[in-house]
Amino acid sequence: RIAGPCGLVIFGVTGDLSRKKLMPAIYDLANRGLLPPGFALVGFARRDWADQDFMEVVHQAVKEHARTPFREAVWEQLAEGIRFVQGSFDDDEAFDNLATTIADLDRERGTGGNHAFYLSVPPSAFPLVINQLKRSGLAQPPGDNAAQWRRVVIEKPFGHDLASAKQLNKTVNDVFPEESVFRIDHYLGKETVQNILALRFANQLYEPIWNANYVDHVQITMAEDIGLGGRAGYYDGIGATRDVIQNHLLQLLALTAMEEPVSFAPSDLRAEKVKVLSATKPVEPFDETSARGQYTGGWQGGQKVPGLLEEGGFSPESKTETFGAITVGVNTRRWAGVPFYLRTGKRLGRRVTEVAVVFKRAPHLPFDDTATEELGQNALVVRVQPDEGVTIRFGSKVPGNTMEVRDVTMDFGYGHAFTESSPEAYERLLLDVLLGEPSLFPKNDEVELSWEILDPILEFWAKKDEPALEPYKAGTWGPPSADEMVARTGRNWRRP
Ligand code: BG6
Repeated sequence: RIAGPCGLVIFGVTGDLSRKKLMPAIYDLANRGLLPPGFALVGFARRDWADQDFMEVVHQAVKEHARTPFREAVWEQLAEGIRFVQGSFDDDEAFDNLATTIADLDRERGTGGNHAFYLSVPPSAFPLVINQLKRSGLAQPPGDNAAQWRRVVIEKPFGHDLASAKQLNKTVNDVFPEESVFRIDHYLGKETVQNILALRFANQLYEPIWNANYVDHVQITMAEDIGLGGRAGYYDGIGATRDVIQNHLLQLLALTAMEEPVSFAPSDLRAEKVKVLSATKPVEPFDETSARGQYTGGWQGGQKVPGLLEEGGFSPESKTETFGAITVGVNTRRWAGVPFYLRTGKRLGRRVTEVAVVFKRAPHLPFDDTATEELGQNALVVRVQPDEGVTIRFGSKVPGNTMEVRDVTMDFGYGHAFTESSPEAYERLLLDVLLGEPSLFPKNDEVELSWEILDPILEFWAKKDEPALEPYKAGTWGPPSADEMVARTGRNWRRP
């Protein structure tokens, strides 16, 4: 579907996200013919720029980061709708100028009164911007036409605990009704993440065994090789658990563990996610079921890299975890007793995100013990990224004249199976915002439920020194306490 007449205003337009993801995604959408011809892009920031300067910045960002080839004609049409408004968030006049710019665009470009406001700004600035949008009348469409819309897009973090998330939701919902609020969790924009639902609910093969009778445990891993150089301002005091587990990993869990939705209508889909998140609880005692670490210097890809405390901007006493692992359970008939292990970390062995559903061993093996020495447990692994696809691991006879059984894998890879290319997550999500399609955006209750799951662990960590914040060397797979966490229950992490 092509978006109808509309415009997008980005606050925080000088930031990395805007340059690397948002601007290129807008161009890619235009290039694929998914934006209306009169589309307008408005940047708002403190810089003393004219429209032309901002246009140059967008041009550069598109050249460097767009996925689709650069086409002069597409760029020129997009560039005609680019505007810049200078000001700070506490400057009433600047917001009044923004309102004038938008009204002009409605007339000149035919944006039809429909505008989305993208808050790519620090969370501390959310209330200010939201209230300015209200004060300047921008939160409401100009006319009485019920089809006209105003929407607000919020980047995480959605608070830093349950109380602050509730406060933030209230601030936003006081100005924008929930159906106009689009919270970005860019993992939901990834093809492979959406495919979890297709895999589960479009097939007969998996669902009958997708439960505690057959599943031993689930491992959700998001490992990154990058460090935190340059991100101290955002990350110090936040840490891996709030940055990634609260949103991306709990959303992956929700899609993996939820019941089949009545339909794929947004409300039906969300109802199931809310149900499963309500049933998800952290497993105690937290000193044994969770782990946290901080990377120290080491080697990565043949390069020497600094530890967190040597990265500029982090306080030398920083207790911020760059690795977090937790155990949660889903208290439903389907999942009773099945642990879900969630882990994420920076500067780990390699970049990989996956959901691994690990099955119980066969109840009986009619082979000699020596014949099955190399046999593991069956597993179904959704490879979210890179090398997107699905792997199934199972035992197979080793060729030869003895009955020896060993693990082999069966692979599906996107590159082999499809000629279609996947849109970038932000491209998909921005288009959905402009279309008013809310399925891939977590609602206020999902966000609050995620914090409800994490708050007890985070409070425990804040109070106790157990599990201690353990150092781990860059390029390894995290602190030993994370291995001990799963080993205590007789299991091991996969080495993806
Ligand atoms: C962001 C986190 O949400 O996701 C970052 O704030 C992280 O810390 C990033 O690096 C990873 O995204 P992706 O799409 O590269 O896996």
